[in-house]
This record gives sequence, C-alpha cells and structure tokens, in this order.
Amino acid sequence: MKLSSKMARCGLSPMRKFNGEAAKTVERGIKIYHLNIGQPDIRTPQAFYDALKSFNQPVLAYAPSSGMPELLDAVRGYYKRIGVELSRTQILPTSGGSEALQMTMATILDDGDELLVEHTRAILISNPGNPTGSVLTPEELKLMLDIAKEHDLILVCDEVYREFVYGGEPLMSALQFAGYEENVVVIDSVSKRFSACGARVGMVISKNKAFMSEVMKWCQCRLCSATVDQVAAAALYALDPSYFDEVRAEYKNRRDTLMRKLRELPGVVCEEPKGAFYVMAALPVDDADTFQHWLLSDFDDHGETVMFACGEPFYATPGKGKNEVRMAYTINCQDLERAGGRRRRGAICAAVGKRKEKRKPAAFSGHRKPELGNTKTGAVFRPCFFASI
Ligand SMILES: Cc1ncc(COP(=O)(O)O)c(C=O)c1O
Repeated sequence: MKLSSKMARCGLSPMRKFNGEAAKTVERGIKIYHLNIGQPDIRTPQAFYDALKSFNQPVLAYAPSSGMPELLDAVRGYYKRIGVELSRTQILPTSGGSEALQMTMATILDDGDELLVEHTRAILISNPGNPTGSVLTPEELKLMLDIAKEHDLILVCDEVYREFVYGGEPLMSALQFAGYEENVVVIDSVSKRFSACGARVGMVISKNKAFMSEVMKWCQCRLCSATVDQVAAAALYALDPSYFDEVRAEYKNRRDTLMRKLRELPGVVCEEPKGAFYVMAALPVDDADTFQHWLLSDFDDHGETVMFACGEPFYATPGKGKNEVRMAYTINCQDLERAGGRRRRGAICAAVGKRKEKRKPAAFSGHRKPELGNTKTGAVFRPCFFASI
C-alpha cells in the first residue's frame, strides 16, 4: 500500500529514536542518564495542580476553538508584564508549541515553498535556540525583523525558552518591537517555561489579522485544545515572574556543570550556550549514532550509561553533524557530574578498547579532529521542529 511520500521523507525524532534500545538497556539493570530529551525535572508549580483539583464542571465539554477566556486573559497578563499588549484575538491556544508550529507552517507555506531559501515565505528562528542555546541580541533580532519586513515575509519566533537566558539580560521578544505587527508570529508553550510538558498547551500569537483568521481555520478543524489543560495553564501564566529566578539559577548552574565536564574531555568541541537548556558538542567520534548504539548495548560503568540526541538530524546541510550530539541539561547537577563521567569513561574506553566493554564501536576514532558544525562553518540547521516532530 502506498502511504504519504511526505511521511516517507520525514525521519524519526532523534530524541526518541533510541528509546526501544534504551528499554532493553534498562531491562539489563543499567541506569541511563537522559540528556537526549528536553524534559525538565523542575517541579511543576503547585498552582497547576490546584487548578486541576478544583476543576469540577459537570460535563467536560469542548473548549472554544479560539481558546478559553481565562487562559487568554492569563496569557495577556503575562505578556503585559513584558510590555506587550495583546487582545484575545491575537492569541490562539494549541496542543503544545509543536501544534502551534505545525499550524503556523501550514498557514504560511504552500507545497514547494521553503524557509529561508528560494521561494521564501517565512523565516523560522528559535530564540533562545534549540539545539545550540544561542541567544539573539536585540540588534540581531531587529535585523531579522527588518529583513522580514523588507521582503514581506513572516518571522516566526519560537520563544518557548524565553526566561532561560543566563547572561543577566532579559530576552527581547519579537513582539516588543513596534512597527512589525504584520510580520511577526510568536510560538509559545507552557512545556519548558513552567516545566509542564504533559499539559500540552501552547499557542500561536500574532497581530497579523489575516494570518490569525487563517490559523483559526486549523483551530476549528481540530475543535479545541484540551479544556482541563487550558484551565490549569491559566494558573501558570498568572504566576509572579519571581517564579523564574530560582529556575533560571538552577539551569545556569547545570549549564556550568555540564560545560566544565565537557571541557575535561579531550577532543570535545562546543560553545557555551547562552540560553535554553541544550549544548551541541562535537565528539571525537566518526559517527555519534554508532557511539550511542554502543553506549546502550555494550558499555556500562558501575551499571550506568548515558543517552543524548545525535546531531545530524538537526542539520539541513547534508553530511553535517555526524560527530555531534545535543545534550539537554534537564537533569540535576549531581547526575550531570555522573553523566559527564560516564561519557568520559565511555570515550576513553572506546578509544583504547578495553575495560569491561565487550567491543569498541566500529566507527570510533579517537584521533579525528572534530568539526563543530554550526552556522559559523556555513552549515545550516534544520528548523528544530522538523527534527523534533
Ligand atoms: C524550540 C521548541 N519549540 C517548541 C517545542 C515543542 O514543545 P511543546 O510541543 O511541548 O510545547 C520544543 C520542544 O522541545 C522546542 O524545543
């Protein structure tokens, strides 16, 4: 039977690709440190659960496709605190940022249209960035906005990591720049910001009326995003901004810990991330995929091993990122220290092919000079949602 060629072209999520193998590793009694997925371990705020507990409508009905008023107003309050005035119609709640991205792309792009190359319709950026942790300065963001405006393009700014910036400066949202109302779409989500990935609440935000009325058609096609989750998400958006101080400090601490561990590893190349909670690193291996298989099937150090997301699927440029991995610092510092140690031992054991490992990974070469494939080397990253969905 012939199935969609679009799906045939779409690879598996690099974050979840090794899950089957990982389950077998766990069955063998081995603990895995998961650096492969951006699933925060920070406690979800109590306000979320309190709102869930007090939800007692006699019928769990559909919510409006345009979103529940209490969530829309809570989101407006949150944006007002960063100086952005929004009306209810400028916000459309979705099932997570992933659905917000899908709807946005489906609304902007026709078959054959591309992002950032010929036939360009839109520019998609993640700021702070997944997978590199890069943070645009206000000047850089303004430059992107100017390009979008000049060429009548939409700048889709995925700002789901907005509060996780470690240089002391608050991140400027694309919505904070006046004069670009027609050109800006912001993707938002409770998943990372409030450590509530399972709530599946995100949103598309834009002041472009024509765009929003087209997205509304998608919202109506899928009826609504979950009623109960919207109610509880409203409590999250109403939290005092001081909530983020401790969370940001914790992630910064983790970033510093992971960077220190990575710098101890010979042959590893990576740049310090300025935001979000990911590090992209080039390892002294030929093939990160083979290395990950080996870490799960043959390696263990005192009953422990480590998982990361392989770098290649994050790139649009063919052949880039083969020796790179993305690590999420969403586990605590103590575990990061141990995970860093595991990887170090893994790398050293692989290089010398001894200790209790049965065999070294076929593609391992301890001597190859790693190439840090990022935008500086001319390589282009695939928009992260293509890699993650
Ligand atoms: C930049 C970015 N946007 C959106 C998402 C989607 O998150 P969710 O669908 O849980 O809101 C992710 C997930 O990792 C992400 O990194």
